[in-house]
Amino acid sequence: MRKLILGNWKMHGSLQHLETFQKTLIHLQTTGPVPYAQLGLAVPAPYLLAASALLRPLDIWIGGQTCDHEAEGARTGNVSAAMLADVGASFVIVGHSERRSQHHEDNQDIAAQVQQAQAAGLLAVVCVGEGLNQAAEAFVAAQLQASLPQKFDANRLVIAYEPVWAIGTGQQATLGHVEMVCGALRQVLQSRLLSVDASELVPILYGGSVTSATANLFLASPHVGGVLVGKASFNPGGFWHISQSVPAGPI
Ligand code: PGA
Repeated sequence: MRKLILGNWKMHGSLQHLETFQKTLIHLQTTGPVPYAQLGLAVPAPYLLAASALLRPLDIWIGGQTCDHEAEGARTGNVSAAMLADVGASFVIVGHSERRSQHHEDNQDIAAQVQQAQAAGLLAVVCVGEGLNQAAEAFVAAQLQASLPQKFDANRLVIAYEPVWAIGTGQQATLGHVEMVCGALRQVLQSRLLSVDASELVPILYGGSVTSATANLFLASPHVGGVLVGKASFNPGGFWHISQSVPAGPI
């Protein structure tokens, strides 16, 4: 399975930045080797349509940064999973720690969002991560259990392990720590899917202050399915460089 390099622009960007981003990537793609990775970018909702037009032809998936837990309704300001799919998104991030803390989304909301995302044909990228002074393995295992709906499709699921203390802080988890937590998350998936093979369908990404200088550490690990990148995904050169650090292998 190709490693996944997913960017998250959060509430940054403009149409102009998107256009510059596309031009730079076209240049890099025509001059550099094809990465052994699938790239994806979660942009702010107003830019989804433009991002689809500009970046999908470059084989870059487009994604939403959240979706509502309901299919439709009187929910001013919210965006449904079906709407994201309608404008060309192929994935949506759910349960990001900023949504959990700033918008008080809880595990139950996230589980309903996963359901909506998968029903709309999107890949649901479920974020989990412990805060400071929380026992990582036990915390994220419980968080993942509670953030998954009773029934879900392993083919349309990605887990992103992002320790809250590593997001936007410049502090990274060590590879040993990430691999240990990935093991705990894999066990949850195995118990929920009742099959080791089915659980292997679900990539587990690492996120938290990943840069083009450090991504290779995580991407080289067989236990890490890719990276979720915030700040460093805003710069097209940096984003591309991260995809270049995936070790060569079968596509
Ligand atoms: P960061 O953000 O790379 O800027 O730490 C990661 C994230 O929030 O997904």
